[in-house]
Amino acid sequence: MASTSFTSSMDEWDALMKEFEDLERNHDTYLTKMSELTSLQNASFKAVKHQNYRVTQIKADLKRLESQKTPKSEEEEQRLEKMRKQLAEVQAKLAEMQNELPAESNGLYLNVILGSNLNVSLLNKTDRYKYKQEYEKFKVRVTYVLLVMLCIAYWFPTRAIDASCNFLMVWYYCTLTIRESILRINGSRIKGWWVLHHYASCVLCGITLTWKDGICYQAFRNTFILFSMYIGTVQLMQNAYQSGCLRRLHALGQRHSMDITVEGFSSWMFKGLTFLIPFLVVGYILQFYCAYVLFYIYRTLDCTGQWQVIAMAILFFLIACGNMFTILRVLARKVKDSKSYNNMVRLTNKYRQKYE
Ligand code: COA
Repeated sequence: MASTSFTSSMDEWDALMKEFEDLERNHDTYLTKMSELTSLQNASFKAVKHQNYRVTQIKADLKRLESQKTPKSEEEEQRLEKMRKQLAEVQAKLAEMQNELPAESNGLYLNVILGSNLNVSLLNKTDRYKYKQEYEKFKVRVTYVLLVMLCIAYWFPTRAIDASCNFLMVWYYCTLTIRESILRINGSRIKGWWVLHHYASCVLCGITLTWKDGICYQAFRNTFILFSMYIGTVQLMQNAYQSGCLRRLHALGQRHSMDITVEGFSSWMFKGLTFLIPFLVVGYILQFYCAYVLFYIYRTLDCTGQWQVIAMAILFFLIACGNMFTILRVLARKVKDSKSYNNMVRLTNKYRQKYE
């Protein structure tokens, strides 16, 4: 019995050693490929950079040629026209290639937070899609928690619950700025203003956290809580819209998907925007109203030593102006782009894997 178990143990050990040798070989291949990948990435990165530089020079030459007064033959005009088209195509392809390579740097903000030697580039479009999906889910979850906490704060007014809500908002907006910076590195086209808006919201909630209880604080408290509840609800609607866009863009990128077309996506997007924009605009009007209430408190009540009142009034006013201006720009761009061929190609390729 003892010898049988000895033999079977030895057999098992031999089998394991063989498996281990295979594993070691595979792992070595993996390490070699990784090293090849890094050198290919570096070579491609340098080549794209060089091509970009040359394209800029050729564009300058083209401009000079176009501005020359000497008449050109028909053949020369045709060649120039062909060159213009090809140049636009090459530039678009170079941008796409650059997007598929790891970013050179994470930017100052992420370097300070994460350290400068951590690369946060996601090279696979499926991973980018999943990261963005996760970001949208994160926003929804935290917004629900925040709404519940704001309801509690409204019905049971205590400074401690107010402080917890403000603390949660500071953490939330701060986390958003980090995630959005990572998304931007990975090809997201989030407008700089929305990221700046989240920095400003973080500062705003931080200031509220430092505001001491008193008549001035109490005069603004309920307005702030109700305003935050409204914004939270609109954020849920905005999130439903953006998650819908994301799902459709992903479906557009699937080679064999028959679910959606670019026209179908555009029509759904404009319908969503028509529903959402009035709620957003009301939110911005409420931001102006908060600024007005704070200015009023500053002028009529004794808020000596409470710099928070005027600082928040100014911040609310600036945020509302920036939001109004940006939303008008976003809408104007969307209407202009809706028929553009380049935009259609961009939307289709956003989550399309070249090699599956
Ligand atoms: N926060 C985070 N990401 C945003 C964003 C925002 N406010 N607005 C747009 N984006 C992202 C989009 O998801 C998209 O990302 P992608 O490139 O990774 O796919 C990119 O920016 C480009 O979006 P764009 O096409 O310009 O706009 P959109 O159709 O996605 O959304 C609005 C348009 C107007 C609905 C959106 O900008 C918005 O909700 N703005 C209002 C934000 C606001 O005021 N919030 C506070 C009150 S709730």
